[in-house]
Amino acid sequence: MRAAPDRAGRRHEAAPVKTFYIESYGCQMNEYDAAFIAGILKRSEYRSVETPEEADLILLNTCAVREHAEERVFGRIGELRRVKERRPGAVLCVAGCMAQRLGERIQEDAPHVDLVIGTDAYARLPRLLEELEAEGDPLVDIEISAALVYGGVAEMTEWGRAFVSIMQGCNSFCTFCIVPIVRGRERSKSPDEVVAEIGALREMGCREVTLLGQKVNAYRWEGVDFADLLRRIDREAPVPRVRFTSSHPRHFTTRLLDAMAECDSVCEHLHLPVQSGSLPVLRRMRRLYTPSWYLEAVARARARIPGLGLTTDIIVGFPGETDADFEATLALMEAAEFDASFLFKYSPRPGTRAVDHGDTVPEEVKSERLERALSLQKQLSEARSRAIVGRRLSALVEGVSERGSGGWLGRLRNNKAVSLVAARPIEPGEFVTAEITATRGAGLLAAVLDEPPRERAPISSNRYAEVAR
Ligand code: 5AD
Ligand code: SF4
Repeated sequence: MRAAPDRAGRRHEAAPVKTFYIESYGCQMNEYDAAFIAGILKRSEYRSVETPEEADLILLNTCAVREHAEERVFGRIGELRRVKERRPGAVLCVAGCMAQRLGERIQEDAPHVDLVIGTDAYARLPRLLEELEAEGDPLVDIEISAALVYGGVAEMTEWGRAFVSIMQGCNSFCTFCIVPIVRGRERSKSPDEVVAEIGALREMGCREVTLLGQKVNAYRWEGVDFADLLRRIDREAPVPRVRFTSSHPRHFTTRLLDAMAECDSVCEHLHLPVQSGSLPVLRRMRRLYTPSWYLEAVARARARIPGLGLTTDIIVGFPGETDADFEATLALMEAAEFDASFLFKYSPRPGTRAVDHGDTVPEEVKSERLERALSLQKQLSEARSRAIVGRRLSALVEGVSERGSGGWLGRLRNNKAVSLVAARPIEPGEFVTAEITATRGAGLLAAVLDEPPRERAPISSNRYAEVAR
């Protein structure tokens, strides 16, 4: 909206006249997209509200990675019909991966959806909204572009975390995965742009940056790979903590490991989805590594980065997965000693290659395997947590832990959450020295000490983010 200049020639922003409400489903990329869309709307004539009932624009930012995610969104679209009826003129928009996948089929199922916008159309949203207002007919924009969608500096949480998208899309075509279809081919942001964005965030007091990409470690810009990018960020725009997600094992190179070990800002955490521990299943998934190669990569990473937090994604019940295949996955989980795993039942996605193999593992078997994997992971997580009881580590305060408990929620560099008890006032965004006192389930309890926190020990000594004792 153009603002009228006052007598001194300054322009004043007029108060936003319309309201929007966004509900986001799925991964961290989607969380980032939701903030990106909110930024676009705020620069237009909108302000955000907390409930759909107050909104002129209700936007659902959706996920397509599993069928269940889409069913939930369809349920929600159904509920919102009544909200729309009570607020004439309100616009219902479905955005993101499910919008990209289904396009106008969403409106065939739910005619009260006014706007369907795919993963590359966010920047066109203000124009689409104007067109909708002028014409009144439902609109669909699911054009995929060859260019990057994102630009501009990301928003920051009140405790100082921001996401920075550095690449988009995926060329891997794992046979179960819809992402290459809904997010398009790989494209990276220039290192100059990434460094400038993080530099600007740093000026704003940013404590932690998470670099995002569907296959973040496949980043490439001319001769610059992901390892080079981490080094440049560490040198030219160091924020206290840098994280990244999600990595593909095939791109987990020694160069990357060296950069992680040598850049003080890069946290000792690696999210490295393995998907399965069975060689025949990995082959059918088209993952391009073997279980033993994966375990060897984990061993290298643990040796180079003591105290590394290692997390993964695993799918159970992939077509043709036998009991022996599943046992191999449990064995790999034990060998890798994951700190946490995100475990999923296989869900066939139309348009992906695995669909041709059918969905052969019965639902009860999938559920049973999921339960067994969850219970093994619980034991592994507890053991990994017990191993650091007594340590003094730097924690970043994220907020209150449970309402009314008087405790705080903090995060260690290895990505584990800690419940903090402090004898003095502390606040979100502060780094504190936390003495790990006990485990609670897979979680950790810690006391805040009156010692200045040290994010990372000097390179020559212990590489773990440990405060000297
Ligand atoms: N079914 C189940 N899980 C899936 N994932 C991706 N596609 C599917 C699918 N069709 C999981 C993978 C991936 C995570 C983001 O979601 O484990 O790493
Ligand atoms: Fe999907 Fe990741 Fe495989 Fe790409 S690398 S196809 S995003 S699972």
